[in-house]
Amino acid sequence: METPQNDRGQFGNLGFVLAAAGSAVGLGNIWKFPYITYDNGGGSFVLIYLLSVLLVGAPIMIAEITIGRSTQRSPVGAFLKLGRPAWSTIGWLGITTGFVILSYYCVVAGWTVHYFLKCLAWSFNGFTQTDAATLGDQFGDFVSNGKLQILYHGLFMAFTVTVVVFGVQRGIERATKTLMPILFVILILLVINSTRTPGFREAIVFLFKPTSIGSDGVLEAVGHSFFTLSLGMGAMITYGSYMSKRQSVPKSAITVSALDTLIALMACVIMFSIIFSVPAAERGSQFSQSLAILFTTLPKMFYSLPGGAVLSPIFYTLVAFAALTSTISLLEVVTSFFIDQLRWPRRVATVLVGLLIFSFGILSGLSQGSVSALSEWTPIGDKSTGVFDTLDYLASNWFLPVGGFFIAIFVGWFLAGSFTRKETEEGHGHFALHNLWRVTLRFASPAAIGWVIYAVILGKKFN
Ligand code: TRP
Repeated sequence: METPQNDRGQFGNLGFVLAAAGSAVGLGNIWKFPYITYDNGGGSFVLIYLLSVLLVGAPIMIAEITIGRSTQRSPVGAFLKLGRPAWSTIGWLGITTGFVILSYYCVVAGWTVHYFLKCLAWSFNGFTQTDAATLGDQFGDFVSNGKLQILYHGLFMAFTVTVVVFGVQRGIERATKTLMPILFVILILLVINSTRTPGFREAIVFLFKPTSIGSDGVLEAVGHSFFTLSLGMGAMITYGSYMSKRQSVPKSAITVSALDTLIALMACVIMFSIIFSVPAAERGSQFSQSLAILFTTLPKMFYSLPGGAVLSPIFYTLVAFAALTSTISLLEVVTSFFIDQLRWPRRVATVLVGLLIFSFGILSGLSQGSVSALSEWTPIGDKSTGVFDTLDYLASNWFLPVGGFFIAIFVGWFLAGSFTRKETEEGHGHFALHNLWRVTLRFASPAAIGWVIYAVILGKKFN
């Protein structure tokens, strides 16, 4: 199967928006955002996150899509086409970041499949007191079982490869067009259900009532806006390269950013309503154990509520679908490099890259307790423990913000205004906010990211 440049595949109507929203909506929304919101006290954190989506996220999303659509290339080729060869370094950084993120992201995605199956079993066989009491231990046993970790990680990678191998329209577009509406319907059902729980009111107050917040929280909010919108590594450049010139770049970017934010807030409403429905004394300190919440605290709470036996497997289906549409985009970024630059057939590229990332991901899978050398590896001092943590720390705190910074600088300062105007107006008509967008990219976005990077250098962790 030859894949010449002009036959790279293209998204149909709605294809781009759904695929890009699928990339953005993932574990970042359903697992990470609720827990960091909780840890940072709610209200003000949410407000700053919203500001940062508006000031940093949405403008860079428009920038990435513009780069992709105007060049019809994945990141490395796109920068080679638009700028001096040195700029392609950002593309290389993006491919490396995609490789790294997918390797550990796929491990957690595998956990969602395991917990879906576990919940199905609980729903049919009954969830006992013993189950409730040992959830933490069960989770610990599961993540430190090396064989199971490799099995589920491999399973999820196989799902991902199966979609990406079919290409842009028949693979990515078809999968996201099926999964995203299902995901949205499940979310709405769960939100409606939340309104009937006793914790709903407290959840809303917690989310929207301004509280005090430290500078760490501000940094965490900015850093998360990159991760959750899939920005900073060229995922949107890659998807943008499959976007039709008849569609509006600014409108699509705004729609994707808005959908992602809405879904993150909906996930918070669902999780907090459940958590606040349980009396404070029984919530325990477990909730602040980051990774574990979704798998230790939540099942217990589900099964203590009416309808939980039906809702919990549905909930984990949702999480797994959200993760899948994100792993697809991560794999596509790396794969498309081999297809575009090295002219490999898609099938060969996808399977090989999938196998490679799977193999590398085994290190993360085994670093949750099964192999102590990997679990205790601390190459960057007290910043992280184990391979899994270290990779997440490097990718979220360094690679994505640095990539985003240079993408903003590149489009804001190095691409001519006449060029970006022409490219953003194609398929859109007059883009009234064009100059405001450029000014944001020139000053506001780099300043905000620069501050984050500076804080990371000073040693503040904000993933
Ligand atoms: N945005 C996804 C999430 O919130 C994760 C993700 C997918 C991602 N593709 C990406 C993050 C590209 C950064 C870059 O879970």
